[in-house]
Amino acid sequence: MRKFVIKGNICYSKTSDELCIIENGYVVCENGICTGVYEELPECYAIFPFYDYTDKIIIPGFTDLHVHAPQYSFRGLGMDLELIGWLDTHTFVEEAKYSDLEYADNAYGIFAEDLLNSATTRACVFGTIHPEATALLMEKLDNTGIKAYVGKVNMDRNSLGNLCEKSPEEAFADTEKWITGNMGFENVKPILTPRFIPTCSDGLMEKLSILQQKYSLPVQSHLSENLGEIQWVKELCPGTAFYGEAYDRHGMFGKPLPAIMAHCVHSSQDELELMKKQNVFIAHCPESNTNLSSGIAPVRTFLDMGIKTGLGSDIAAGSSLSLFKAMAMAIQCSKLRWRLKDQSLAPLRIEEVFYLATKGGGEFFGNAGSFEQGYEFDAVIIDDSTLKHPQKLNARERLERLVYLAEDRHIIAKFVSGRKLFEKII
Ligand code: GUN
Ligand code: FE
Repeated sequence: MRKFVIKGNICYSKTSDELCIIENGYVVCENGICTGVYEELPECYAIFPFYDYTDKIIIPGFTDLHVHAPQYSFRGLGMDLELIGWLDTHTFVEEAKYSDLEYADNAYGIFAEDLLNSATTRACVFGTIHPEATALLMEKLDNTGIKAYVGKVNMDRNSLGNLCEKSPEEAFADTEKWITGNMGFENVKPILTPRFIPTCSDGLMEKLSILQQKYSLPVQSHLSENLGEIQWVKELCPGTAFYGEAYDRHGMFGKPLPAIMAHCVHSSQDELELMKKQNVFIAHCPESNTNLSSGIAPVRTFLDMGIKTGLGSDIAAGSSLSLFKAMAMAIQCSKLRWRLKDQSLAPLRIEEVFYLATKGGGEFFGNAGSFEQGYEFDAVIIDDSTLKHPQKLNARERLERLVYLAEDRHIIAKFVSGRKLFEKII
């Protein structure tokens, strides 16, 4: 069962500082789990089926910790606004269309196919408020073999009339039905998804917290993305010292149940400390933060504090599904932040962003995002031979170049939990 060996340039993170590269080495998969990386293949594995990707770059798959599937349709459009104006003008209008299952079927088919062909092997995905369309999204993602958490979005205020749940009670009933009806997929699981505090009343949050406890669900949402949004939350939630408290008072801010908060561009020290204490994951989404002029998150601080952090594409505030692009932008944004805002926080390095895209975000799924022993066998095979160069480059240099070129088009095969999802004949 799913026992095989892969040969190639094996690249994986042990820590955010330690990137291991074994040129033309071997990684062994047994029952969907990595059981070893070797420079020379031990004799006992000689009988295993063998994939020869000599000279190709082999990386663990990426985890996209924050992506909105219904927004994939308008990626790259309407980017001249800040968060709240962008939501009202473009996002809610598009998401309302997913009450139409035919539209959803078409749009989610495109999303699932493009995600399959990307370097992403795991993702935390927002749907819309519509239970049927979200179930359809789950089915399509499940069929790709990618591992995903998918959330039916909850929101009951400050949105369009046709994109608002009618009452906390109705939202509770619809969400419970959606959860119980969609727990049986092989690769995809439900995640509780209150959109963000401005669109979720206290009554709704109370109801969602009952469901969270009853079904032991993880939570995903947005936090401290934009200064105007933070001010709005202060007004909506009097008595909270910082934005994160508005989730925490409903038990939706980590421990004991896992949570991901996207952005944290403007989180206070107190907010970050609570996230560290309660193991809340941060999804850093640098392209989104640039496009919506939200700011530059202090990722160096997240790493120094030991806060669990990964990367998100945040489609459609981010335009690209490529986590190579998220890695490049994470570095580039951190350089601008260092130069223009705070020279005490050193820019991010290749080792660090590679860690964030793989093992950092992968941790939300358990042991995922590395080739260390005991990790889920997720692998992406990259053939960069069409990127011509006159000089000799080692595997480390080739990986660095792939990050800065920021494209997923050189991928020739992908494995998730030891299952091959595709292989392109070249
Ligand atoms: N905050 C609430 N909803 C959204 C969304 O769809 N995208 C982003 N970037 N931020 C949000
Ligand atoms: Fe988002």
